[in-house]
Amino acid sequence: MIKKCLFPAAGYGTRFLPATKAMPKEMLPVLTKPLIQYGVEEAVEAGMNTMAIVTGRGKRALEDHFDVSYELEHQIKGTSKEHYLDEIRTLINQCTFSYTRQNEMKGLGHAILTGETLIGNEPFAVILADDLCDNDGEGVLRQMVALYNKYKCSIVAIEEVDPSQTNRYGIIEGKEIEEGVYMISNMVEKPDPEVAPSNLAIIGRYILTPDIFRFIERTKPGKGGEIQITDALMAQAMSGMVLAYKFKGKRFDCGSVEGFVEATNYFYAKSYKE
Ligand code: G1P
Repeated sequence: MIKKCLFPAAGYGTRFLPATKAMPKEMLPVLTKPLIQYGVEEAVEAGMNTMAIVTGRGKRALEDHFDVSYELEHQIKGTSKEHYLDEIRTLINQCTFSYTRQNEMKGLGHAILTGETLIGNEPFAVILADDLCDNDGEGVLRQMVALYNKYKCSIVAIEEVDPSQTNRYGIIEGKEIEEGVYMISNMVEKPDPEVAPSNLAIIGRYILTPDIFRFIERTKPGKGGEIQITDALMAQAMSGMVLAYKFKGKRFDCGSVEGFVEATNYFYAKSYKE
């Protein structure tokens, strides 16, 4: 059973400056909910109850969001506005939140390794909150948990992207072993289109077995001088098996302004206009 979900949330969110100057990018709202709350809801739907968040400087708003605000509760109690807090109250009651700080920005692999202290020696999920996923059926992470229960190995979520965009993603190559499931033989972080092994791009959902921490420790800085989870996963694939899963559902790149606006329009159409 996978109970823990790690959220790397230490990045600066430079593409959203000045909005992210004093506020974590994970707190940017799509409609009335911050990005990270969508992620936590997806993890809960997948059966997880322990949220492990790797934060950095200036991220206190994240901790406050997943805590009770007594003053607010007191003010709002018994009024017509109380229902606005229903969703977040339910979430806080369903799971625990723990935090650790990444004090140097050395890449996603390093952020995940920083979270080992909160995860321990068990398989876990990773959500990158700026990849916002939505599905009318089972959420992406729930689909991946089902696959994990069958194969018991690390899994990355993938989708096909325009071949001109491979340099924005980790790109995989592999053999399709069942519909939409690939056994990875190669993976490269942000390759230029001319050298990309495919157009199958990793999106921000992972299930990782805990030996990944040892692979990360041995991973040298890669693309951009950062310790890349893609490189650690490639080493894990070479010594055993790592799968890529073409998930069912929609995904928005809320790390870009364009994707963020798309997500906002999509959720507005879905929740306010039905
Ligand atoms: C990270 C990963 C990359 C993956 C992407 C998904 O990159 O390094 O392999 O494709 O997330 O969003 P980032 O977007 O943090 O630069």
